[in-house]
Amino acid sequence: MTKSRTVYVCAQCGWKTSRWVGRCSGCEEWDSMTEEECKSGYTHTLPEYDIENPICLTDVKSVSKLRTNTNIEEFDRILGGGIVAGSAVLVGGTPGIGKSTLLLQICQKFSEQGCVSLYVTGEESTAQIKLRADRLNVSSKNIFLVAENNLDVILEHIRKISPKLVIIDSVQAMFKPVLESAPGTVSQVRQCANELIQIAKKTGSSVFLVGHVTKQGVIAGPKVLEHMVDTVLYFEGEKFMSFRILRAVKNRFGPTNEIGIFEMCNNGLREVKDPSEIFLSRTQNLISGSSIISCIEGTRALLVEVQALVTRSNFGTPERKVSGADYNRVAMIIAVLEKRTGLLLGGNDIFVNVVGGVKIDEPAADLGIAIAIASSFKDVAIPGDTIIIGELGLGGEIRGANQFDSRLKEAERLGFKNAIIPKDNSKDTSGIKSLKITEVSSLAEAIDKIC
Ligand code: TYD
Ligand code: MG
Repeated sequence: MTKSRTVYVCAQCGWKTSRWVGRCSGCEEWDSMTEEECKSGYTHTLPEYDIENPICLTDVKSVSKLRTNTNIEEFDRILGGGIVAGSAVLVGGTPGIGKSTLLLQICQKFSEQGCVSLYVTGEESTAQIKLRADRLNVSSKNIFLVAENNLDVILEHIRKISPKLVIIDSVQAMFKPVLESAPGTVSQVRQCANELIQIAKKTGSSVFLVGHVTKQGVIAGPKVLEHMVDTVLYFEGEKFMSFRILRAVKNRFGPTNEIGIFEMCNNGLREVKDPSEIFLSRTQNLISGSSIISCIEGTRALLVEVQALVTRSNFGTPERKVSGADYNRVAMIIAVLEKRTGLLLGGNDIFVNVVGGVKIDEPAADLGIAIAIASSFKDVAIPGDTIIIGELGLGGEIRGANQFDSRLKEAERLGFKNAIIPKDNSKDTSGIKSLKITEVSSLAEAIDKIC
């Protein structure tokens, strides 16, 4: 007779214990233990596939057409040039950001190429999916829908239909009956994902798993889920903006940190081909405290506008508020400004904001942020056709940035006229014609020259 008992499993790392603890001893995460029912008589059995014998590397057949393009350019690019056959992709994001919408649109693109796709929904009914499909103008004989939570049934459907694309919306809603625990628990999520990934590899279908995110913004369930799949995509975006950024945080078949930018319209997600345009406000009348920087997202350069506001503080301790950039980095930039250029910022409140809801986290944005703060403090506007690139050292020196060529090319393409760049990068400007380049080696020199 099998005896059931309760175990506590860490939602982050899968560590188990028989009694509840506040902090996981495996990964030291607080409040991550979840209660699960466990049958002691249950042993893992191998799924019913034929066992494959090891073969010599030279005998492995190369696949001729490994990737399928969705013809949604932004999406293909973040995957490294289309969907790889037999790959497993995890798509995470907060509720309502557009995961189901995007995946349904991808089904449509697949079906247009004559490929069969299977959309498994564990959260909505097929009628609800149909409603969304009508809104998106998705209709095809090649798309199959099923509202199902039982993993065994889903695997059976996959074997029967042999679709080229399988969407599991969401992996937290699926369960394997042989495991006693409820859907969404660590063991269920892990087991379901594992079997879906295995069937993808065996049959060559590509599997997309939708993953819920927790309050902290990480995919709910064990971290191992991210290790198991080939690609992890995160949807980012502000609640009040229509723009959605899809970021590849892991990709076995392409570059990581590549982003795709979409706009949520009333008939679904539309790709934004020229993202720099949306992040620049390009007001005609110049205001102080605004500078334009060039950052690299994946393989692409993106121009964004940084705004700073420096005002006299009314309280003893001045306020520092940052949105869209790293707070500690900005604090460092302020300290360097004070010490190395003599700007007396101590008694001022400082607000820094990145336009358009993007988050920048690369050091090459330092100089742009510093100049924006100095410009607001001195109340001198920076010309709107100037691009600023450079990393700031604690000594006030300006260091070079990587992928410099593409940063300048993007600025040139968008019609910028001036560039303030680090002296270290002077050799990378050979292909640039229409930009007037100003090289600087220290922060004081940069501020001297521009404001
Ligand atoms: P959805 O794809 O259901 O989000 P998720 O699966 O990530 O939870 O997207 C739902 C949101 O998108 C909802 O707020 C309505 C909006 N939306 C549009 O603005 N236009 C559309 O064409 C569709 C289908 C949804
Ligand atoms: Mg959904």
